[in-house]
Amino acid sequence: MRACTLLLLAVLGMPATAVPDTMAQRAKACTGCHGPQGRSRPDGYVPRLAGKPAGYLYAQLRAFRERRRRHDIMEQLLENLDDAMLHELADHFAAMQLPYPRPTTTLPAAGDAQRAEALVRHGDAARELPACAACHGTALTGTAPAVPGLLGLPPDYINAQLGAWRTGQRQAQAPDCMARIAERLPLEDVARVARWLAAQPLPADTRASTVAPPRWPLHCGSVAR
Ligand code: HEC
Ligand code: HEC
Repeated sequence: MRACTLLLLAVLGMPATAVPDTMAQRAKACTGCHGPQGRSRPDGYVPRLAGKPAGYLYAQLRAFRERRRRHDIMEQLLENLDDAMLHELADHFAAMQLPYPRPTTTLPAAGDAQRAEALVRHGDAARELPACAACHGTALTGTAPAVPGLLGLPPDYINAQLGAWRTGQRQAQAPDCMARIAERLPLEDVARVARWLAAQPLPADTRASTVAPPRWPLHCGSVAR
């Protein structure tokens, strides 16, 4: 794995004159894992990059570089890249509008699906848990530029991210609203919500909404206001 990372670092660090389309060449250091064109696979763990909001992708690259979001290879790949390069990588993948594959995950049992959908669309006032849709958009395709969509992600990936927020392995810009949400969401609900989200078909327009919600239910440091 070490040799592989060194090779990827060499691709990322290539001098600008070496190839005609530098960004596409550099992005090859990424697409080996993230799939051709950063599309990922519906069943895999490695998340898709294509078409995600640019501000969100940039925030993740910074978080890996600053080791607030932990993943050995991502940290090593990014540790020597400057902010300008991180913006370029984020913009490169954000600009790709590519179709999503059909979901291969099936809905959970009826009662679980109902509970999951209620949480996603309405939240749970008793737990002071806002609706996921309040920030991630009514179509759940995200809110540009900083909030990602929740559709088209593998269930294991969603489970792992909510787990990482609980344990501090993933920390967004403070105040970290997702950390508050993850701690208020019981583990049974995390599993239900992850499976329900992963089973949803994508709408025809998969782009993040450009309209901010009238009121953010919690303050998120990654969302500028
Ligand atoms: C060895 C495989 C591998 C390589 C190479 C790789 N990644 Fe990743 N990347 C991952 C994995 C696995 C994750 C999920 C990490 C986690 O558990 O949070 C990830 C997560 C990400 C995320 C967060 C996505 C999201 O939706 O939150 C971004 C952005 C990202 N990678 C960008 C890149 C870029 C840009 C490159 C090339 C410079 C790259 N990756 C190279 C495996 C890889
Ligand atoms: C107050 C606004 C807000 C609410 C409510 C909210 N989120 Fe988020 N969510 C965010 C922000 C902001 C991010 C990006 C954080 C970052 O920069 O890493 C995010 C990121 C995520 C991610 C990471 C996606 C990826 O590609 O890695 C998941 C998964 C997620 N949220 C799930 C949920 C679920 C499930 C709910 C409902 C139970 C929810 N969120 C409610 C603001 C919110």
